[in-house]
Amino acid sequence: MKLLVTGGAGYIGGIVTTMLLDAGHDVTVVDDLSTSPADGVPPRATFIECGLADVATVLTREAGFDAVLHFAGLIAAGESMQQPGRYWHVNTGGSLALLTAMRDAGVDRIVFSSTAAVYGDPESVPIPETARLKPTNVYGDTKLAVDLMLAGEAAARGLAAVSLRYFNVVGSYRGQGERHTPETHLIPLALEAAQGKRDQIAVFGTDYPTPDGTAIRDYIHVEDLARAHLLALAALAPGEHKVYNLGNGSGFSVREVLAVVEQVTGTTLPVVERPRRAGDPVELVASSKRARAELGWTPAKPTLAAMVGDAWEFLQR
Ligand SMILES: NC(=O)c1ccc[n+]([C@@H]2O[C@H](COP(=O)([O-])OP(=O)(O)OC[C@H]3O[C@@H](n4cnc5c(N)ncnc54)[C@H](O)[C@@H]3O)[C@@H](O)[C@H]2O)c1
Repeated sequence: MKLLVTGGAGYIGGIVTTMLLDAGHDVTVVDDLSTSPADGVPPRATFIECGLADVATVLTREAGFDAVLHFAGLIAAGESMQQPGRYWHVNTGGSLALLTAMRDAGVDRIVFSSTAAVYGDPESVPIPETARLKPTNVYGDTKLAVDLMLAGEAAARGLAAVSLRYFNVVGSYRGQGERHTPETHLIPLALEAAQGKRDQIAVFGTDYPTPDGTAIRDYIHVEDLARAHLLALAALAPGEHKVYNLGNGSGFSVREVLAVVEQVTGTTLPVVERPRRAGDPVELVASSKRARAELGWTPAKPTLAAMVGDAWEFLQR
């Protein structure tokens, strides 16, 4: 297939691009390089430096795209609470521009990177796709708005859409890994602290109603996550907006994660305790039963030790 990948210079988009190329697809990446360096784009892909707002020019100039995989956006929940307008502009406004350009160019298939953040503080875990949608941060709001847009476009004009709701993504794949600037994710921050590149690693909130007082999250290996995108492409159906959670169904507290990082790296981390951050839910653990049943997806690397080990190997390169 001829595929357009938005955000393909980034962590997950870059790895999915590699897998798509390996599967024989023809891939064009668009990315404005606002939060990733250009060398994140796999060299075998065609690269066009372009923002979501201008993607119409690409879709008009280069006809014949079969589908879009849409990763581009801003990803830091904490930052979204400080800069809400910027998040609405890029994530929701950018996605609206993309969907409009797709409609005008007659491209009617899309796989979208949604997030566990759309569920907010869930009423129970593990969280199914049918759970209440009530984000606790602006990042989640902006992603939920796109899920709703996709549902509307599917119903109104037969768009084939899949939203993949990722839980916390970790690890590396064939030399490609996480290089966010600024980095906000717990595991890469902890690994950088283990390398001595950071003076401290902060635990935000030690008074949550959890066994050790720290927040609980579900982690998924980026290789397993990336594979789900190829399955999702095959599952696209005209007029349907399908939604799948992607996680392992096991929750780890922040303290448990840091213990695994210490084990893998053989270091003692310089941990500091800080108050809770606005918008951080207590516990997010996925039910991925639907992805397993409908996509035939099974995580091959479900252990935290494997995820942290691969992320550590990437950082040490
Ligand atoms: N990393 C995670 O744990 C995680 C979890 C849930 C959901 N997601 C979602 O997955 C997607 C990819 O995440 P990632 O970790 O690879 O992020 P990333 O920051 O590594 O990649 C995002 C890419 O989008 C590009 N970009 C940003 N704004 C753009 C714009 N207006 N036009 C064009 N390009 C733009 C950036 O330059 C970057 O290369 C995001 O949509 C994110 O919300 C990620």
